Amino acid sequence: MPRLSDRAQVLQESAIRKLDLTVATFPRVTFHRLNIGQPDVATPIPVLEALASYQPDVIAYGPASGLPVCREAAAAYHARWNPGLTAAHVAVTTGGSEALLFAFTALCDPGDEILVLEPYYTNYNGFATVAGATVKPLRTNLDDGFALPSDEELDAAVGPRTRLLVFSNPANPTGAVYDQADLERLAAWAQRHDLTVISDEVYRRIWFDEPPFSALELPEEVQDHFVVIDSMSKTYSSCGLRIGFLISKNEALMEKVERLGQARLGPQPAGQLAAVAGLQLGEAYYEEVRLTYKARVDALVDALGQIPGLNAPSPSGAFYAMVQLPVDSSEKFARWMVEEFRDSGESLVVAPGPGFYGTAGAGAQEIRLAAVLGEYRIRRAGQLLERALEQYPGRS
Ligand SMILES: Cc1ncc(COP(=O)(O)O)c(C=O)c1O
Repeated sequence: MPRLSDRAQVLQESAIRKLDLTVATFPRVTFHRLNIGQPDVATPIPVLEALASYQPDVIAYGPASGLPVCREAAAAYHARWNPGLTAAHVAVTTGGSEALLFAFTALCDPGDEILVLEPYYTNYNGFATVAGATVKPLRTNLDDGFALPSDEELDAAVGPRTRLLVFSNPANPTGAVYDQADLERLAAWAQRHDLTVISDEVYRRIWFDEPPFSALELPEEVQDHFVVIDSMSKTYSSCGLRIGFLISKNEALMEKVERLGQARLGPQPAGQLAAVAGLQLGEAYYEEVRLTYKARVDALVDALGQIPGLNAPSPSGAFYAMVQLPVDSSEKFARWMVEEFRDSGESLVVAPGPGFYGTAGAGAQEIRLAAVLGEYRIRRAGQLLERALEQYPGRS
């Protein structure tokens, strides 16, 4: 048997995808799927039209860091937060995912360490593994709204192999929103230790109280220490378009990102033209997106508030909630719902908490819910969760 790489051996199987395979074996059950961040919100018509109007004679390769028109549109869009931004500071990637992979690869050597605010977006693990780096979780807690760790904690977390810190703002899965003071503390920390911070801002437009502070808004003298990740997926309900952006004023980094891009040739052109149409939408569109998710998250919080025994914080942004349940194991509970729990032919799919933690044993009583469906279905999902908890044999 040919040998597989050590990295391939430790690649984590997505707990979310694993449950999906089981869901597929029950075609007659109506599952309310709050387990993945795939919204049912319609993609904006200009994006669809731009995609449909792509009718070239030849579907050709494009430039490694993206078509000039797409880089320029992305730079013009992000210049709202950093007026000096130009196309040279933007690389178009195959989703925010590839932007993260490129950043990790360009910034880490095998054996290096990436600090991640925990709980965190599971796929950071996979990107770190491919880059040969290890993830070191830095815990944030439900009790204080998943606040940024103190300067002392941030300083103490830095070891000889630490190269960068990654976090999402607004955060998946916690719904936390980090503000100017948080970003300024991170900037001072990054300067103190000469490290990079990756600010994953794919949910930047989805906030409910105060907007997140973008790393792009920080002073120019610290911009070399930051990489911003953005994506068409959530803001434009275009998850399948696979277009994202890596943005940084660190010229040396952008040069290496261009080379990584050259190695995989260019991101797909039709998606980039569709992205341009999205990036040119007016502010009214973004307000509509924000209010759509606010209504959904409000419905989720309201539905959860009616279930006894739950500890569910109100998200301030993104469209997820981490919820603490009175169960023996959230993994067992999630699987039990898919396999056994039915209410009028309906059931519920949730993401078990441990997948969002790097710390062994953490999140065992938590689930993540994604407010990706309309309010009616979210309220029905709340009812299903309540009934499932009543019937679950492993209730604690
Ligand atoms: C925090 C965060 N970052 C990045 C991504 C990747 O998104 P995409 O590759 O679709 O742009 C996601 C997707 O859910 C996410 O939640």
